Amino acid sequence: MPKKTVANLTEADLAGKRVLVRVDFNVPMDKATGAISDDTRIRAALPTIEDLIKKGAKVILCSHMGRPDGQVKENLRLTPVAKRLSELLGQEVVMCPDCIGEGVTAAISQMSNGQVALLENLRFHGEEEANDPDFAKKLAANADLYVNDAFGTAHRAHASTEGVTHYLSPSVAGYLIEKELNYLQAAIETPQRPLAAIIGGSKVSSKIGVIETLLEKCDKLLIGGGMIFTFYKARGLSVGKSLVEEDKLELAKSLEAKAKEKGVEFLLPTDVVLADQFDKDANSQIVKVENIPDGWMGLDIGPESVKVFQEALSSCKSVLWNGPMGVFEFDKFAAGTDAIAHTLADLTATGTTTIIGGGDSVAAVEKVGVAEKMSHISTGGGASLELLEGKVLPGIAALDEA
Ligand code: 3PG
Repeated sequence: MPKKTVANLTEADLAGKRVLVRVDFNVPMDKATGAISDDTRIRAALPTIEDLIKKGAKVILCSHMGRPDGQVKENLRLTPVAKRLSELLGQEVVMCPDCIGEGVTAAISQMSNGQVALLENLRFHGEEEANDPDFAKKLAANADLYVNDAFGTAHRAHASTEGVTHYLSPSVAGYLIEKELNYLQAAIETPQRPLAAIIGGSKVSSKIGVIETLLEKCDKLLIGGGMIFTFYKARGLSVGKSLVEEDKLELAKSLEAKAKEKGVEFLLPTDVVLADQFDKDANSQIVKVENIPDGWMGLDIGPESVKVFQEALSSCKSVLWNGPMGVFEFDKFAAGTDAIAHTLADLTATGTTTIIGGGDSVAAVEKVGVAEKMSHISTGGGASLELLEGKVLPGIAALDEA
């Protein structure tokens, strides 16, 4: 770990100190009930919070939720998060009325050692995303030092992730950021080989960077999800009314050519599950990719492709997965994604390191019930992609060197 972490801070450094901790509590909420539908990101922050409590710090947590664009949105308050965190910690978490201002300063001045407070949604202030220095200064004014454990937001240079580091010292990483970096960086820098990457999702355009980087790093690249149709069309196949990014056909061709040049095994599905419309109850049929009829769209990879992918993965010692194989939210078109999730769970049991790189693929392994069986599940969607692309994450770059 190139950065200083909370592990480097002792009780002597922390007892009685006000520690501003940036966490990513941007958790999914059930629209109907307003309840948290997945508390993974809250649980992932516990090791850092518990360590700070144990060392006698006054723990001041801050996070964003959703994208309120500088407005107070009642449905994006962090109150349900404070409640859930209180249950997980077994102690009260004080919910602050805002993230800056007199009310917050007053609440913090009442804190005793080992107490935890949660500031209100940072993005209720537009200055957070603008990385406004005055706002960062106000956030920092209520603390003595800073810990960033918000891996999921580390790709954003915001006031609470980058700005505050100019006003608080030391500024260190939390245990979650350390763990994420250990797994994700090792996966591409020093993997046990063969290393396979499975990349899915609907658009090639959103995965260009990661595919290009992975072509330099991995031994096998398996492609699924809606983006396969852009590759097929680039090969001259008919794809019916499947999703195609017409302006990415040349790019798709060049990525395939690059894989060949680099000696990377590049696998596209050999069969697909088609639907007559984009609907969970659509009529469906399974065809070879060479036989996609007009008027049909591909919504999943087919059973033959699953076998081909399983065979390719069976010899791999490391597997990185980002992006579903199909529209797994529709049961009828979830078989490909489900099968890959089960395959990775089985491979983990036999010693393969499996890393799920955030976003929809995490939702997929959770839906199938095999999340606990993977080596590592990233809490960052955009952040893990950018890290795998080799980009610098500003929220991490700003922290003190080890
Ligand atoms: C995420 O869910 O990816 C992070 O919390 C970052 O959220 P953002 O994309 O709204 O910045």
